[in-house]
Amino acid sequence: MKKAVCPGSFDPITNGHLDVIERASGLFDEVTIAVLMNSSKSGLFSVQERVEMIKDSISHLTNVKVDTWSGLLVDYCRAHEIKAIVKGLRAVSDFDYELQMAQINLQLKGVDTLLMATKPAYSFLSSSLVREISSYGGDVSAFVPQRVAAALASKASPNRKG
Ligand code: PNS
Repeated sequence: MKKAVCPGSFDPITNGHLDVIERASGLFDEVTIAVLMNSSKSGLFSVQERVEMIKDSISHLTNVKVDTWSGLLVDYCRAHEIKAIVKGLRAVSDFDYELQMAQINLQLKGVDTLLMATKPAYSFLSSSLVREISSYGGDVSAFVPQRVAAALASKASPNRKG
């Protein structure tokens, strides 16, 4: 069975993430979305909230599941016999970081990374931008699944209008 992992902080999942996950699900027998902590980012949603929103967004994908992990990504891959990491590449600005991660993960445990070009329509999209727009009361419904937009709207914020 060909297995891949789509790792990320998913705080929250966006339509850009979903696009990559859907395309990966067509290339692999089984895709696991691994919600991991990024030590350089602080979170808006709890891990459990992120998982629930992801589950809701991928219910149409029968070979995709969600899991959480708090260690190194390569250790997760080893423990679950996953040989490929799939990550979206939005723009050249993503490349240096993603290449470095891909190379360190290959060096650490021999796990390969496939960088999937995102659809141009999502090249500007990030969870952090979505969080910021929403924190000012902006409309994010074009960028995230409906349940995520509702969850963002319900997060109390001092920046929110009204
Ligand atoms: O969505 P993000 O924040 O770009 O995802 C980054 C993430 C969570 C995939 C990355 O930070 C990660 O793999 N963290 C787990 C720890 C790890 O394995 N780091 C890489 C080797 S130092």
